[in-house]
Amino acid sequence: MRETSLSPDDLIYPLFVTYGRNIRTAIKSMPGCFQESVDRVVKHAKEIYSLGIPSVILFGIPEHKDKKGSGAYDPQGPVQKAVKAIKNKVPELFVITDVCLCEYTSHGHCGLIEKNDVKNDPTLELLAKEAVSHAKAGADMVAPSDMMDGRVEAIRIALDNRGFTDIPIMSYAAKYASAFYGPFREAAESTPEFGDRRTYQMDPANRREAMKEIELDIEEGADIIMVKPALSYLDVVSDAKDFFNVPVAAYNVSGEYSLVKAAGKLGWIDEKRIMIEILTSIKRAGADLILTYFAKDAAKILNK
Ligand code: PBG
Repeated sequence: MRETSLSPDDLIYPLFVTYGRNIRTAIKSMPGCFQESVDRVVKHAKEIYSLGIPSVILFGIPEHKDKKGSGAYDPQGPVQKAVKAIKNKVPELFVITDVCLCEYTSHGHCGLIEKNDVKNDPTLELLAKEAVSHAKAGADMVAPSDMMDGRVEAIRIALDNRGFTDIPIMSYAAKYASAFYGPFREAAESTPEFGDRRTYQMDPANRREAMKEIELDIEEGADIIMVKPALSYLDVVSDAKDFFNVPVAAYNVSGEYSLVKAAGKLGWIDEKRIMIEILTSIKRAGADLILTYFAKDAAKILNK
């Protein structure tokens, strides 16, 4: 009689790739998550694939940051190197790359800054360049998370022009300006130096606007659309599933993970049961794919 079933096959595991060798630095606010150098990420990728998780999404922590986020499209950047190495050693693992500038800019914003303001249109070219460099390295799919208007189209055109017509785009289409990203910013070292992301990410109070954002991204060429965060936005996940005929992804973000881990550590909740209940609820709401830091923990239980 069960209507919803959860499987490791539904899950995408986020990884943080950094420079150097033999590095595996724990992320304090996200127990069980690490910043890893390419050699360690490859080992990790083998373990992830052996657990039945079909896909990972890569975030990069570059050695140097600058105003233009040039590390984002450096062919020798951590993400580009990690994609190459993973596809070489674990070719069956589907590798997605996060396309954004915030991990690479000195100011920590997702776009170019002029007079303390994020400039939408000049940013598009850089995002397209980043996506092409990921595709060149061998990425199976690119996932723009910056929330600049028009970036899906810019990326689609750039990929097509370079012959990457087969590389799909998963767009972070309905991405809210959320406090649930707090721990991620420690993990990716991407806290904005000034201001916040409210001029380009969505107002948590808006539900209908999410459908407009998703519609525009699909028109621009998004193959999969994402709602982010997941748990406080299950109504949006459900609407997305009802309104559109494309796969829906939901991002169970860092803050959602840390809350459960912290309360679990204190013995206040049954961490494993809560984790499965949360992931099941995201699937029940309509998500076809779930990006989650719980992927390995959940797969270990689901594989039993
Ligand atoms: C980059 C990006 C963020 C997350 C994914 N991509 C942070 C942000 O927008 O501030 C958050 C993921 C998480 O919290 O787990 N733009």
